Amino acid sequence: MAILTPFGGRSIQNPAPNTGFAQRSFPEIGHMRVGVTGGAGYIGSHTVLALLEAGHEVVIVDDFSTGDRQNLQPSVTLVEGDFKKPEVIQNFLSHGLDAVFHFAALKAAGESMEQPEAYSAANVRGTLFLIENLSRAKVRNVVFSSSAAVYGEPQYLPVDESHPLVPINYYGFTKLCIEQNLAWFSRLGRIRYASLRYFNAAGYNRAGKIKGLERNTANLLPLVMEAAAGMRPELLVFGDDYQTRDGTGIRDYVHVEDLADAHVRALEFISDNNKDITVNLGSETGMSVMEMIKTTERISGRPVPSRIVARRDGDPPELIASSALAHQLLGWKARYSDADTIISSMWNLYRDKK
Ligand code: UD1
Repeated sequence: MAILTPFGGRSIQNPAPNTGFAQRSFPEIGHMRVGVTGGAGYIGSHTVLALLEAGHEVVIVDDFSTGDRQNLQPSVTLVEGDFKKPEVIQNFLSHGLDAVFHFAALKAAGESMEQPEAYSAANVRGTLFLIENLSRAKVRNVVFSSSAAVYGEPQYLPVDESHPLVPINYYGFTKLCIEQNLAWFSRLGRIRYASLRYFNAAGYNRAGKIKGLERNTANLLPLVMEAAAGMRPELLVFGDDYQTRDGTGIRDYVHVEDLADAHVRALEFISDNNKDITVNLGSETGMSVMEMIKTTERISGRPVPSRIVARRDGDPPELIASSALAHQLLGWKARYSDADTIISSMWNLYRDKK
């Protein structure tokens, strides 16, 4: 790995490691040099593995505020720093990038309601700054981490891309606002983009190639793992009186390796077809909080101490994706997003953690 100071400028190209990703069924397009913001983070690092496996070259910009150095693959080039700083973005773009994947952002919906300033700065202003710079540097292809939070309270299920866009938290609004800016910059001929609306990202690389655990996440499954591993005394279950099969909230959990695969396909699609896409990425299956606890207990052989508490504000009872459009346009379907694969890929990492 080449490590660059903010004013450095050297990139290296090593053979792609075998990451265990299955071969994709359509022909490879040309090799690209792909910049990845937040490439040491949770979804970013998994996507870097998929990019390397597909034969692309990767330049990461990360300030390690939430990313983890353990997640860096040896063949990547690293620009260390905050991409929102002029000298850092300048260095990042000096690598002659063909495309940028933008992961670096804040993602806790609840926190965004208490600290909107932080979400405005990191997500909205940060991304606009990135887009302005990509536009000026003529980096055409942008793949953006969006979220099902752009839809807000589901008005029907499964949620497809035509569902009304009425975010109910500021985090969701930041993603929508960025999507709208991407659409304008595309309309003005500056970029083409893929906006990928993730449902509930979960799991870790099944071969254990990503070792850095997400820190301080408020998401369900890492907390279930921590409770099973004895790293926290108990899991709080937010409500068991929803109109669902067991009373607990139902979500569409999608394995991070499936997400990573979709990113590579999305890049190839926008580049081959010179078209923008906005697609949902979900497993199209709903799992309840209680089902995830039970699956974890079965797979780990450990109890998951839990306590029912009040509902969390803004949580819909059920959220399930239609990913028909991603299937149609990208030939993508979730392959590793069943509860057992998700939970066992996580437990592999958490079991030794206590
Ligand atoms: C939210 C966002 C999603 C975002 C994700 C990333 C919305 C509607 N969804 O997903 O877009 O990408 O965060 O952080 O804004 N639960 C518990 N106890 C816990 C934690 C969660 O019972 O300690 C329950 C929740 O009530 C919910 C399910 O587990 O039913 C999943 O929650 P979580 O992992 O926080 O994700 P979402 O809120 O669905």
